[in-house]
Amino acid sequence: MRIASRVENLPPYIFADLERMEEQKRREGVDIISLGIGDPDIRPPSFVIYALIKALDEERSHQYSSSQGERHFREAVAKWYDVRFGVKLDPDREICALIGSKEGLANFARAFVDPGEKVGVPDPGYPVYSQGAALLSDGTPVRLEMDENFLPKLPFHSGLKVVYLNYPNNPTAAFASLEDVNGFVDSAHAEGSILCYDNAYSEQYFGVNPPPSVLQTKHSREGLIEFHSLSKTFNMTGFRIGFAAGDAHLISGLKKVKSQIDSGIPKFIQAAGSAALAKYTGRERPQELIRNAEELERRMKRLVGGLVGAGFDARMPRGTFYLWLRVRGNGADMVRAMIDSGIVATPGIAFGLRGSNYVRFAVTQPMEKVEEAVKRMSASPAVMKFAGS
Ligand SMILES: Cc1ncc(COP(=O)(O)O)c(C=O)c1O
Repeated sequence: MRIASRVENLPPYIFADLERMEEQKRREGVDIISLGIGDPDIRPPSFVIYALIKALDEERSHQYSSSQGERHFREAVAKWYDVRFGVKLDPDREICALIGSKEGLANFARAFVDPGEKVGVPDPGYPVYSQGAALLSDGTPVRLEMDENFLPKLPFHSGLKVVYLNYPNNPTAAFASLEDVNGFVDSAHAEGSILCYDNAYSEQYFGVNPPPSVLQTKHSREGLIEFHSLSKTFNMTGFRIGFAAGDAHLISGLKKVKSQIDSGIPKFIQAAGSAALAKYTGRERPQELIRNAEELERRMKRLVGGLVGAGFDARMPRGTFYLWLRVRGNGADMVRAMIDSGIVATPGIAFGLRGSNYVRFAVTQPMEKVEEAVKRMSASPAVMKFAGS
């Protein structure tokens, strides 16, 4: 039975080869340190866990929710946008709950991309924009030109139906200022493109300067939709909860698609989500999240310091938990050499052709593991061959 061509034509799964090598090493008894996936090792804050346990025991918590989300969750999102960004939203028309932002980013294209329409995607970038969104909607991904800071060159190409952008960025850890974001919106409006702004890492910054929202710009909300996730913010990746906010017309298209496909996030997870967002009382993060970011910053400093000491061109990022490291030669070859030393990282090419000379590290392991990884890399001549840029 032939698989549908839109699925067959998806690019090959780059991780398969690496996973096989990693599995082989584990079988040989090597203690693998995984700095590959951006999946936090730190538990969600206790106020999230308590809210979840309480909600599980409530009447009717076992029943279906709705694909747009419970009203209390959409109200919690509206309140969060107000305290965090000073943006007022209508919980009924301008917000939709998501089973994680990945689902929403992909389903959004189903709602707005017709076969053959062009979708602007960053390269390097989160692969869901070009694959789960554009290709699986029979759209055509068009790689955006990026500058040396991994910001898109403006103006955007003409004729793009949708443009996906993401700051703070996975994989590059690039940040965009409100001025940058104003420029993105200007350009999208001028071209008549929809701007899908993926703000999944808006709370993952070191220090005191919170990243902006696309809905904070001086422009009208028309054609703008922003995606958020509780995954990274509250270490809730496995809970599967996020949300989209923005132009009521775009939100209603997304809701229409979702209503045909899913039946919503479990009610008890939404209760935990509302409790999590309600912890914000201003634009600064609650204490638990600040402590979390400080721990990530300490780990990142250790990784960057160790790599610089070993001769790599590593630069401290402003946030996220990713280090985007330029290496001498091919990043995928370095990743293979690292697996021999029991360390897993992600080859930059997994995020697009322009990532081929990079390796992405996620500091989602405790400090002692990060230190051990640095030690092993420095001691491996096969890895050290890639030092320098
Ligand atoms: C840029 C970006 N957007 C969205 C997501 C999806 O997150 P989730 O579906 O857990 O909300 C990720 C996950 O790694 C990501 O890196």
